[in-house]
Amino acid sequence: MTLIDGKATAATIKAEIKAEVEQIVAAGGKRPHLAAVLVGHDGGSETYVRNKVLACEACGFRSSLIRYEDTITEAELLDCVKQLNEDADVDGFIVQLPLPKHISEQKVIEAIDYRKDVDGFHPINVGRMAIGLPCYISATPKGILELLRRYNIETSGKKCVVLGRSNIVGKPMAQLMMQKQYGDATVTVCHSRSQSLREECLAADIIIAAIGRPGFLTADMVKPGAVVIDVGTTRVPDATRPKGFRLSGDVDFDNVAPLCSYITPVPGGVGPMTICMLMLNTLAAGKHEYYQ
Ligand code: GUN
Repeated sequence: MTLIDGKATAATIKAEIKAEVEQIVAAGGKRPHLAAVLVGHDGGSETYVRNKVLACEACGFRSSLIRYEDTITEAELLDCVKQLNEDADVDGFIVQLPLPKHISEQKVIEAIDYRKDVDGFHPINVGRMAIGLPCYISATPKGILELLRRYNIETSGKKCVVLGRSNIVGKPMAQLMMQKQYGDATVTVCHSRSQSLREECLAADIIIAAIGRPGFLTADMVKPGAVVIDVGTTRVPDATRPKGFRLSGDVDFDNVAPLCSYITPVPGGVGPMTICMLMLNTLAAGKHEYYQ
């Protein structure tokens, strides 16, 4: 069994990005600039955004953090998005989700200029991804493809089960694993209502678990030699930890890992790759790689 080290892979990629940025700047080009908008004080969002800003520093990017209280109106937030769309120095930006209930996330996402949508959440990027055109691909599925590629894991023609159908992970993951230019696999999507979920998993060469239920994928659902990618990051109360919680994946790691050819741990697997892919998207934005 090989443990897939997302933390080390992410560090390598960030060093590669930084080297490229310094080359661009040395040649007289512009330093990429990512802006992040954070509304309110949700603990998870605060951590994510702080880590995104730190990753920008590691990559040699400029970053801007724009903070609002959760009393901000939808109109005010839409106005902020408009200003960022028009700011020529900002190459890409994200609005951290979730947003307060009184603000429509979809409206905000659709207000973002798709050419600066480094999260890849705008319907134009989602649509372009689905038909295989150049675009920003959302960070988690892009990070998983990158891990599979860097570990030389064969996906072409393999049976891949994606557990979960969220807009951010399950749906794009299934699309990408299906496409010839990415996974080139035979893909099955299972979710909370799937009746033959265990049988589908048992037949799979690759399982990507993004269902958001700690320890959901157990050893009796995994074929010996399978590749298991765990996207779960549920906060589980744990009084022995300084923060009072630990992160739990969707995979019963202790019992599943011995069966696998490759497996990602939680933490240290998919998680560190996601922010790193946001950095790759920001580099692409700075270079106008996908759009003018
Ligand atoms: N909240 C959880 N993950 C993400 C992400 O990738 N981007 C944004 N904008 N918000 C998130």
